Amino acid sequence: NQEKLSSARFSESTDAFVEEFTASIQFDHRMYRQDIEGSVAHAKMLTEAGILSAQELSDIEAGLVKILAKIEAGEVQWSIKQEDIHMNIESLLTGLIGITGKKLHTGRSRNDQVATDIRLYLRDEIDMILPELKRLQQGILSLAEREFDTIMPGFTHLQTAQPVTFGHHMMAWFEMLKRDVERLQDCRKRVNTLVLGSAALAGTTYPINRETTARLLGFERISENSLDGVSDRDFAIEFTAFAATLMMHLSRFSEELVLWSSAQFQFIDLPDRFCTGSSIMPQKKNPDVPELVRGKSGRVYGHLMSLLTLMKSQPLAYNKDNQEDKEPLFDTVDTVKGSLRAFADMVPAIIVKRENTYEAAKRGFSTATDLADYLVRNKGMAFRDSHEVVGLAVAHGVKTKQDLSEMSLETLQGFCADITEDVYEVLTLEGSVAARNHLGGTAPNQVKAAIERAKADL
Ligand code: ARG
Repeated sequence: NQEKLSSARFSESTDAFVEEFTASIQFDHRMYRQDIEGSVAHAKMLTEAGILSAQELSDIEAGLVKILAKIEAGEVQWSIKQEDIHMNIESLLTGLIGITGKKLHTGRSRNDQVATDIRLYLRDEIDMILPELKRLQQGILSLAEREFDTIMPGFTHLQTAQPVTFGHHMMAWFEMLKRDVERLQDCRKRVNTLVLGSAALAGTTYPINRETTARLLGFERISENSLDGVSDRDFAIEFTAFAATLMMHLSRFSEELVLWSSAQFQFIDLPDRFCTGSSIMPQKKNPDVPELVRGKSGRVYGHLMSLLTLMKSQPLAYNKDNQEDKEPLFDTVDTVKGSLRAFADMVPAIIVKRENTYEAAKRGFSTATDLADYLVRNKGMAFRDSHEVVGLAVAHGVKTKQDLSEMSLETLQGFCADITEDVYEVLTLEGSVAARNHLGGTAPNQVKAAIERAKADL
């Protein structure tokens, strides 16, 4: 490794601690592939513009190919003295091919280089996260399909409200993820913007061709202002906002899985391979995966707040502050990928205890609304009055420990003389869910239709 590139202006060398403190190679080496990709495209463009010779380009390309192989073989020792991934690679290149290596940086600054690297990196990661999101959606769909008519209690305030189908509940999760996919696809458009050519902040005096660079790197847009180009980190904030929303959704799924697998609910069994035991209590089977994912939502929210605060009040254009963008972004990517992988593996393997969910739906007077609707529809009662009548019947059920469907016709007629035998059709759980038969309703045939639409979408 050669001496620090900027040393000519200085009369003393950098303080050893400051050197370490200001370096980013400890974490930005993660972007080595994108840094090389960006450099190759830049060198090709410079050659096309007559700034580098064909020989120089081929030396640069050959050198970078060698460096890439060395990095991937684990043979490169990163140097704190070279501060970051950009200078590390440039210094390796110069070591290999001499003076031509130094020409690579013509018409470019680390300011537009780093922004380009992050965009390329994030685009690559988005292209891995999208299929993983869809894999989780597939897993949810397969569970929804298996349990499309399984009856469970639906809750509001975590109190039994009305019966729903398990498939319908799963399709609610599916909808949340559908919005996450849309958000990520939309975010990708703004990530996929070429900012190279902004140079340090004002552009460059060389006759560069940004269209060429954009084409070579697969960028769909070209930034229109060099000051904005080097200092914009909106795309990282947007990605992290997508991630925070996704993690919020996963934390909601997690919470339900934790509750449902408890001895008090017993709605589901999580496969053993996604759980762990206790070191002291031999009976324990803890739902670690959903708990951990629920917990990890916190760090992603934190990263979103870090990035927003990082950018707050920053004057144009590049400031060293921006070096702090990488660790929150990288950890967000890692957390999202890990959480999605765990969930995509686990969800289709969930076992639903159908008798338990059925019994639970029966216990909480979940068809009380159906009885009230029956009195309105079949007996011409005003809803407010039927609400009152059913309230009395429920109070009786609480006292005598029986569900509405278990009461005799005489008992029910004691609350409203008009009630007839056909009331039992609406008091059953099956009747209750089947009656909510419209787009977005919980009826099993609506769930089936929703699953079919979702399959066609994926
Ligand atoms: N390591 C720096 C970063 O991550 C690269 C850009 C440095 N530019 C500069 N003018 N110091 O932001």
